Amino acid sequence: MATQFRRIGVLTSGGDSPGMNAALRAVTRAAIDKGVEVVGIYEGYKGLVHPQLKRFTDRDVSNILSRGGTILYSNRCLEFKEEEGMQKAIATCRENNIDGIVAIGGDGTFRGATDLSVRGIPTIGIPGTIDNDITSTEYSIGFDTAVNTAVEMIDRLRDTCESHARCNVVEIMGRNAGWISLEAGIAVGASAIILNEVEFDEDKTIAQIMKAKKNGKRNFIVCIAEGVPATVGDKLYSEKFAKRFEEKTGIETKFVRLAHVLRGGAPTMRDRLIAAQMGSEAVRLLLEGKSNLVVGMRDEKIISTEIGYALKLDRMYKGKITEEELASLTPEQISEMRAYCDKRTEDLRKMYSLVAELSH
Ligand code: F6P
Repeated sequence: MATQFRRIGVLTSGGDSPGMNAALRAVTRAAIDKGVEVVGIYEGYKGLVHPQLKRFTDRDVSNILSRGGTILYSNRCLEFKEEEGMQKAIATCRENNIDGIVAIGGDGTFRGATDLSVRGIPTIGIPGTIDNDITSTEYSIGFDTAVNTAVEMIDRLRDTCESHARCNVVEIMGRNAGWISLEAGIAVGASAIILNEVEFDEDKTIAQIMKAKKNGKRNFIVCIAEGVPATVGDKLYSEKFAKRFEEKTGIETKFVRLAHVLRGGAPTMRDRLIAAQMGSEAVRLLLEGKSNLVVGMRDEKIISTEIGYALKLDRMYKGKITEEELASLTPEQISEMRAYCDKRTEDLRKMYSLVAELSH
C-alpha cells in the first residue's frame, strides 16, 4: 500500500489561517511515520508551477505547531488555473517523484486539488480558512483562533465603550460568510449582528437598542460581517451604518474594522487538535489510494467528501448551483444535500436568534 508512494508533497494555498502550520506538521510526521518522504511546496500551487520544493524531515516541522501563518507561505496562483500552468505543475510532480499531494486551504485550493487529481496526481484537501465557509465541513482550521481573536478585540472595545457610554460598530472579516461575526458577536454579547445570511431590519434593531438604553445599558456593540457591504453594493456600508446609528440614536458611535489581524496569531488548542486529526487523516486516505477528497468534520467526527460533491454542496448552500450541476446528481444525493444545507441554515438562524433574546 504505502510502497507505491515514494514521496508526497504538501502545500498551503489561499488566505492563510492559524493552524495551517499544525496541519503541515501533522501531514509531514504522519507520512514519515508510514515510511513516505515529504516535500514542502512553497507559495501554494505557484511552487509547483515554478518549482520551489524542499525535502522535509521531522525536524523541519519542529516548533511550528504554535506558530501562526504558514511556514510554506501562501499564494493565490492564477497561472495554475491555465492548462499550461497546470501541465508545468504536473511535470514538477513527475520530475520530483511526488506521487500525491495534500493541499491545505479553502475552496479555491480544492478546485486546484481536483484539477491535479483528474490529471493523475492523487490529491487530498484539508480545510484551512478562518471563514468557516466550506459547506461540506462544519469546521475549517483557523476559525476558532479567528473568533477568539475577535472576541478579545471586542471585549477591549467594550471596556472603553462602557466608560464613555458609546457604541462600537465592528466590521469583521469572513468574506461572504457571517460565521466569525455571528459566533464572536454572540460571545461578546453584541446588541446587533448584521450578516448576509439573515434578513436585517435597521429600525427594529435601533428600537431594541434604545429600549436597552432606557433599561440602563451604557455600551453597545454592533457586529457587521465583511460580506455585507459587498452584498448591498456599498463598500462603505459599515461606516455609513455607524454614522446613521449615531444620528438616529444620539449614542456616540465609533467604527472599527477587524480584518487581517484575525488571520494571525498562535492557533488555539481546538485548531491545533483538529489540524493534527485532519493532517493524519489526509495522509491515511492518500496512502490508502484515495484521491480527490476533502477532509472535514461532522458532529465532531473527522470525515471525507469527494471534492466535486463538496463544491456542489457549497454552491447549493450559497444558492449558486446550476441546473447542469443538479442534473449530474442523483435524486437521493439532491435530497441529502438539501437536508444538509437546510440544517446548516437552521443552525445559523437558531444561533442568530440568541442576539435578540439576550442583548437587552
Ligand atoms: O478567506 C480568508 C479571507 O481572510 C477572507 O475572510 C477575506 O475576505 C479574504 O481572505 C482577504 O483576502 P486577502 O488576504 O487577499 O486580502
